[in-house]
Amino acid sequence: MEDQEALKKLAAEAALDYVKDGYVVGLGTGSTVRHLLAALEQRVRAGLKITGVPTSEETAGLAGKAGIPLLSDDDLWPIDVAIDGADQVDPQLNLIKGGGGALLREKIVAANARRMIIMIDESKRVPVLGHTFPLPVEVLPFGWQNTARAIEKLGGKAVRRERNHHVFCTASGHYILDLHMARIDDPAGLEARINRIPGVIECGLFVDRTDVLIVGTSHGVEVQTRRA
Ligand code: A5P
Repeated sequence: MEDQEALKKLAAEAALDYVKDGYVVGLGTGSTVRHLLAALEQRVRAGLKITGVPTSEETAGLAGKAGIPLLSDDDLWPIDVAIDGADQVDPQLNLIKGGGGALLREKIVAANARRMIIMIDESKRVPVLGHTFPLPVEVLPFGWQNTARAIEKLGGKAVRRERNHHVFCTASGHYILDLHMARIDDPAGLEARINRIPGVIECGLFVDRTDVLIVGTSHGVEVQTRRA
């Protein structure tokens, strides 16, 4: 296993401490969450009873295989804890998410959870968001070029995401515009301004949502909690 994967696994295993019997758990998306689900599977097979709310089809499939029953889209979700990865984390625990394209569901689940736990390897920590990772913005395909120009007026360059030379579509049928910015000094202000643009569905800035950050580092696990 590569170093980064090993550190993600370390963080994911530490996240188990935040899952209690009977909890409804929001399950994020991505490679770190895959490690979490593998670890949860062992606990569930040993008798832990939890219910999941998945943020992607991939996570739903893995959770099902792990023996975790899932709430449906039509249920009301009393989520005790949401656990997810991130693409960048700043010292105030603000995040960029959406590298995997699941940011809309991830934000809905995070917004409806009593606590949010983020697991990362140490490479995701940055002093200021931006620069090394573009900000994903989910937009309606209708008039997307105009939406992209409106977003660029706030700074940066918006590039429509592609995978294997095809336009990438999210699970909800939207496009992702990856906004390349040198630095994001005011994540809360930028999130509000982007989300006010007609055509924008949601952006990958998660501001003031993280309660606990778990970091897998080469010298062990570090835990940072939100300042009161
Ligand atoms: C999915 O859309 C993302 O928000 C992921 O949570 C994020 O990209 C972290 O992914 P990894 O755990 O694969 O690094």
